Amino acid sequence: MTEPRPSEPPPYVVDQMISAKAIAARVEDLAAEITTAFAGTRKLVVVGLLRGSFVFIADLVREIDLPVEVDFLEASSYGDALESSREVRILKDLRGEIAGRDVLVVEDIVDTGFTLHHVKNLLLSRGPKRLEICALLDKPARREVPIKATWTGFEIPDEFVVGYGIDYGQRNRNLPFIGKVRFTGAG
Ligand code: IMP
Ligand code: MG
Repeated sequence: MTEPRPSEPPPYVVDQMISAKAIAARVEDLAAEITTAFAGTRKLVVVGLLRGSFVFIADLVREIDLPVEVDFLEASSYGDALESSREVRILKDLRGEIAGRDVLVVEDIVDTGFTLHHVKNLLLSRGPKRLEICALLDKPARREVPIKATWTGFEIPDEFVVGYGIDYGQRNRNLPFIGKVRFTGAG
């Protein structure tokens, strides 16, 4: 299913918030903790939530010193807007089975918590042996559903951010750093 082409947003600039270097250092730490936590696993199924986690998961798995399998799931709550719709739909399901397996869900941002809450319950219903969550960013001030990732890269204030895989209306995913969107239009 295709989506409508994103409309032109009002003019904005992106102010750097977390540098590429700071992200790389944190990803290394997270991967070390994950490697320790899942030591002895036969294979870790790393589940990336599309599309925002694609850069993060690519960097993270290359630092995890365990046998891994990579799978993807796409849930949608934002569309191209700045606000969560609070209604989570599964647009693309996993290809593999996770029953009885060690699973790490990788998310870009936990905001209201609706997405992760829904995805976590869905995956838990399939009977994994163990399921943990690693989120790059967390905006605790915005939480509406109580959920916390096992590992969080950075806690950030209530700002709309882009870069390192994260978009605003499908823009800016290719920025190597994370920055906040600042609108520049008059009025
Ligand atoms: P939640 O369901 O409100 O927790 O929304 C989580 C999802 O919303 C994330 O996976 C992102 O795709 C998206 N999202 C939340 N905050 C931002 C942001 O600041 N920039 C871009 N996307 C965001
Ligand atoms: Mg997302």
